[in-house]
Amino acid sequence: MMLELPVLSQLEPFQVPSKEQRARRVYIETYGCQMNLNDSEIVLGILHANGYGITEHPEDADVILINTCAVREHAEQRVFERLNHLKPYKRRKPELVVGILGCMAERLRSRLLGEKRLVELVVGPDEYRKLPQLLEQAFAGEQGIAVRLSRVETYDDIEPLRTEGISAWISIMRGCDKFCTFCIVPFTRGRERSRPLQSIVAEVRRLWQRGFKEVTLLGQNVNSYRDPITGADFADLLAACAEAAPQMRIRYLTSHPRDMSDKLIDTMAAYPNLCKYIHLPVQSGSNRILALMNRGYTVEQYLERVERIRSVMPDCALSTDIIAGFCTETEEDHQATLELLRTVRYDGAYMFKYSPREGTKAWKWGDDVPEEVKVRRLNEIIALQQQISYEINREKEIGRLHEVLVEGPSKRNPEQWQGRTDTNKVVIFPKSPEIGTGSLIRVRIRQATSATLFGEVVAILEPASQQSA
Ligand code: 5AD
Ligand code: SF4
Repeated sequence: MMLELPVLSQLEPFQVPSKEQRARRVYIETYGCQMNLNDSEIVLGILHANGYGITEHPEDADVILINTCAVREHAEQRVFERLNHLKPYKRRKPELVVGILGCMAERLRSRLLGEKRLVELVVGPDEYRKLPQLLEQAFAGEQGIAVRLSRVETYDDIEPLRTEGISAWISIMRGCDKFCTFCIVPFTRGRERSRPLQSIVAEVRRLWQRGFKEVTLLGQNVNSYRDPITGADFADLLAACAEAAPQMRIRYLTSHPRDMSDKLIDTMAAYPNLCKYIHLPVQSGSNRILALMNRGYTVEQYLERVERIRSVMPDCALSTDIIAGFCTETEEDHQATLELLRTVRYDGAYMFKYSPREGTKAWKWGDDVPEEVKVRRLNEIIALQQQISYEINREKEIGRLHEVLVEGPSKRNPEQWQGRTDTNKVVIFPKSPEIGTGSLIRVRIRQATSATLFGEVVAILEPASQQSA
């Protein structure tokens, strides 16, 4: 189908859209990490500024975009399954444009564009500014592809189109230079680059003024952050954000143990609005495996960082990522991981089976741990961690008072509401007319499972925010 539409210039994103464009609606679906969720908001920001409408229903859409994740094979399979499910939409509306965004784009472009021409568009994570132009071409019947990685793109000037709420993500840096041998991210997202500190601080301030109560600073490796203008580091950035919006809760994801500096720990301790929660992926408890993974620390060095964190912030919650069954992992290595979990006693963990990724260094080493062994080891890790989370919540949380930022009705039971502690734990409490989304309340914890705390409201510290009340 050919439509006579003007090609939108990337340099003038705010020009008035034509009638046809105004009518067009985009539906976006996101797989993977928080970075991807924020990237989808950036994509919507770019398309909205170019006259596109947004819809939450794929059947109403003129454009369906899938923002993909390549970190494990399972994530990729889900995207291919989803593409199959989209075929009927395309049959019903042949002019529908389907596009693949994100980490799978570069790796799988030939396969994606070949999929019986279901996909018209393949766009990598550094090429989203080209989307308006590529969409025009796609509406004119051309397949479009843009997958080059950039050394400079940070989308610093793009206002993400956020769903209104109380919590917002801010990407502060992109890419990763760590090259862990199992990880595809350095290849799909390219080199590390940071946004200027002043622009991030201004965004935090704007979000506070708009009624947001919490921001999460995002990056693959936030503690390698460097202000490209002044050279300020991540601790400086945290301090500047904390001062710019002293009532805003500020979180960050993800940090690398190697760059968890004393200065960063001391800065977190110094500001009450910097949330006392650190996600510190360890991956394995075996020094041999850590070296094979190119993680750049030993178990002893990692534990020293944990001790330092706990000596400065005794109540700081910790979570981690673990990979079970990395190549050559022996039973002894696996036991060392279990031992590390017992030693650190994390509040929570994200636990994965090793999934070989083509193009990484470890890919060449094969995948020698049999599937059933991987599954058994992963299950042992999960069972132990659940037990530890349960014990921590029962022993340390019951009776404790927490300041809870209210998110809204609980998904399981709308008569109950839910919020989050500063330490990132979910708290369920009874609904009450004085409490709304964005309220800050004090809750005493009465019960706990491994994943959830249950409490009673002791005080309302701040009423609901105007924006979302
Ligand atoms: N296989 C399994 N898990 C992986 N991760 C990254 N790459 C792989 C892989 N190839 C996990 C790591 C990382 C988290 C985001 O995903 O634990 O910290
Ligand atoms: Fe991947 Fe390692 Fe970079 Fe994390 S630090 S994104 S695991 S390469």
